[in-house]
Amino acid sequence: MGKRFPEGFLWGGAVAANQCEGAYNEDGKGLSIQDLAPKGIYGSITDEPTEDNMKLIGIDFYHRYKEDIKLFAEMGFKVFRFSIAWSRIFSNGDDKEANEKGLKFYDNLLDELEKYGIEPLITLSHYETPLALAKNYNGWTNRKLIGFFEKYVKTVFTRYKDRVKYWLTFNEINSALRAPYSSAAIWTPKEELSLQDLYQAMHHELVASALAVKIGHEINSDFKIGCMILGTPIYPLTPNPKDVLKALENDRESLFFADVHARGKYPRYMNRFFKENNISLDITPEDEEILKNTVDFISFSYYMSSCATADISKVEGEGNIIAGVPNPYLEASEWGWQIDPEGLRYLLNTLYDRYEKPLFIVENGLGAVDELITDENGNKTVNDDYRIKYLNDHLIQVREAIEDGVEIIGYTTWGCIDLVSFTTAELKKRYGFIYVDRHDDGTGSLERYKKKSFYWYKKVIETNGESLV
Ligand code: BG6
Repeated sequence: MGKRFPEGFLWGGAVAANQCEGAYNEDGKGLSIQDLAPKGIYGSITDEPTEDNMKLIGIDFYHRYKEDIKLFAEMGFKVFRFSIAWSRIFSNGDDKEANEKGLKFYDNLLDELEKYGIEPLITLSHYETPLALAKNYNGWTNRKLIGFFEKYVKTVFTRYKDRVKYWLTFNEINSALRAPYSSAAIWTPKEELSLQDLYQAMHHELVASALAVKIGHEINSDFKIGCMILGTPIYPLTPNPKDVLKALENDRESLFFADVHARGKYPRYMNRFFKENNISLDITPEDEEILKNTVDFISFSYYMSSCATADISKVEGEGNIIAGVPNPYLEASEWGWQIDPEGLRYLLNTLYDRYEKPLFIVENGLGAVDELITDENGNKTVNDDYRIKYLNDHLIQVREAIEDGVEIIGYTTWGCIDLVSFTTAELKKRYGFIYVDRHDDGTGSLERYKKKSFYWYKKVIETNGESLV
């Protein structure tokens, strides 16, 4: 038996609207950029929503959330992270009026969480910008998006001001560097997108994020608003100083986003990067003022670490959208993501040393192929010992980081119920404690079944981490 986690530690799970809700065109929802991306970030964009797009139905969370939240409550969740689909609230993003039916859906969802005493943690934008903002404005390259986002967040902050405390602005904001369509709704194909336009788009998002923090605190000073970054620690591949410097450089590529959010201004190292890449950003004095509204906490996703080398011939693949080289000491998941529990402790310490702000691990988990079996009692289940091991090993490192002195608000596993994957848009890549009977060929009853890990996580929460081994 290990040590218990701090009292009040928020245990839970996370999902995103576009990957679980389905009901892509119900109750006034407009199309989101994901409705045209049936193959995830690697495939092409379709003209219209197509049947092979698993996200259109997702896991039908829109209609089954009551059943699902009941299962989360049974596991003892203290917190549930979900996103609001922006296009349910403003179907085109630039509409005059908010869609009452969309707001009502989230009222109901919050009612259900309240019933079980589960704290909501809401992501305002999780790769699901209204499609019209991508098509008509070229997404975040356009400064007007700040105003549209402002209106959207004002609407939801005001509506839920007495019901929600924890908010995240943009999911994995740094991922726009690799996935500009999903992350920043940029319609220009990635190959044609200039670094100038990309970083200008990122600047607009950073300003919008800080503006959300400002508005949120004005609406309710008790709000805790965080940024969200894709957390991938970068190790030098060798002790060659050139590799060490390369690792520093690659780390900064991501940490730049957390730096602005946490420190309220651009870090000086970006000046050189901008100069050498002929980037000249339009940053107004008002923008600089807004950026000073720093976040209350830093949240991040963690799946893998990566290695950096100065030897460009060794760089291959894109993993979870961070380019790097494989670490010879680590094994990888079925999707090639290298498993590194200690990397989580390393990242937690790095971020805490750098910012001294509370941290929230809002995504972590193993995407794997699961086999549904019938046990001796005739119940359908999955013996997902591999997932239990992955989560156990990572949580042990979270506890180590707490011992190191890092302040951690909570931990939400990614895809606590199976859902459509983001990068590859498949359902066979499963993360959940709950199996959903739906398959990539469109078949399946959508029934839910508890996996072995369901009972394991229930115990972890019940014992506040003491049961981890
Ligand atoms: C993160 C995203 O990048 O990783 C999630 O915030 C995503 O939306 C998760 O689902 C896992 O990635 P994938 O491709 O396995 O679903």
